[in-house]
Amino acid sequence: MLALNIPDRDTLYQPVASIMARDFWEERYAADIEAIIRLKKQHNAVILAHNYQTPEIFHCVSDIRGDSLALARAAQNIDADIILMAGVHFMAETAKLLNTEKKILIPDVAAGCSLAEGITAENVRSLKQAYPGVPVVTYVNSTAAVKAESDICCTSGNARKVVESLNVPRVIMIPDEFLARNIQAETGIEMITWPAHCEVHERFTPQEIRQYRRMHPGVKVVAHPECPPEVVEAADYSGSTAQMIAYIAEEKPEKVLLVTECSMSDNLAAEYPNTTFVRPCNLCPHMKCITLPAIRKSLENLEAEIVIPESLQERARLAVERMLLI
Ligand code: 13P
Ligand code: SF4
Repeated sequence: MLALNIPDRDTLYQPVASIMARDFWEERYAADIEAIIRLKKQHNAVILAHNYQTPEIFHCVSDIRGDSLALARAAQNIDADIILMAGVHFMAETAKLLNTEKKILIPDVAAGCSLAEGITAENVRSLKQAYPGVPVVTYVNSTAAVKAESDICCTSGNARKVVESLNVPRVIMIPDEFLARNIQAETGIEMITWPAHCEVHERFTPQEIRQYRRMHPGVKVVAHPECPPEVVEAADYSGSTAQMIAYIAEEKPEKVLLVTECSMSDNLAAEYPNTTFVRPCNLCPHMKCITLPAIRKSLENLEAEIVIPESLQERARLAVERMLLI
């Protein structure tokens, strides 16, 4: 008989105590949190959560948290039978590529990504035909079919390193046009781009940033590299979601504006009570498909399982593994 003891409610509430009223947490979340922790033990499952997950998921039920790169690295070495991805579909697919023998669950198959949906394998084949011999660097925000057509993957956390490691004057960098242009500005390496954008980050403007600076003098502005280049230029720092967190941990700014998805500030506010988070707040509808009830149901029914056609697995995994070696 498995021991399914779980921590008491005081302990479970603690990580969000500074950002959420106890009554609200009890009424809205406590029962699902307890059920999820029991189910994880019962099925020997771990929950990987992206930095854009809401605080009750991020702080109360997840086991490993991070940006896309950290989640991919973690997925490589997980000692569990089941991995549940509290994130979007491409993140679950990446975990599956690195763990073909494990069951990988996504609580809602509708949790997509405008970048992953913005390019097809056929599009990549056409680009390769148009630019023979030019290496294809593919952002992990892409389908396994697109990864399978690529030489190497990258994330926002290692894009510069990956591109520079190729030692070439020109690369095809897909699907995020803005990430490619931002990396071109940093490295001087010519990018052949594709017109796909993140629907969350493309909405930020430099005018908006200037207005926030006027309203909050002294505010530090930190932008995700999926933002348009003019926005990244107007920021004090740009990096992946994990690099943004590291910036706050190191610089300890009094006031900060995270030019990214809303939940980042909510999650960090719980950990950095001395920093004021100014919130421009753009929500990712895909990340927000993942809720506590959806996670609970997914672990109860062991659905939806990620399946990648065998014909794609090997080539797509190679592109991800080449990135992880850098
Ligand atoms: P990170 O790898 O920086 O976490 O970004 C993933 C993502 O989807 C950002 O929109
Ligand atoms: Fe995709 Fe943008 Fe959502 Fe990230 S925030 S999952 S890039 S749509």
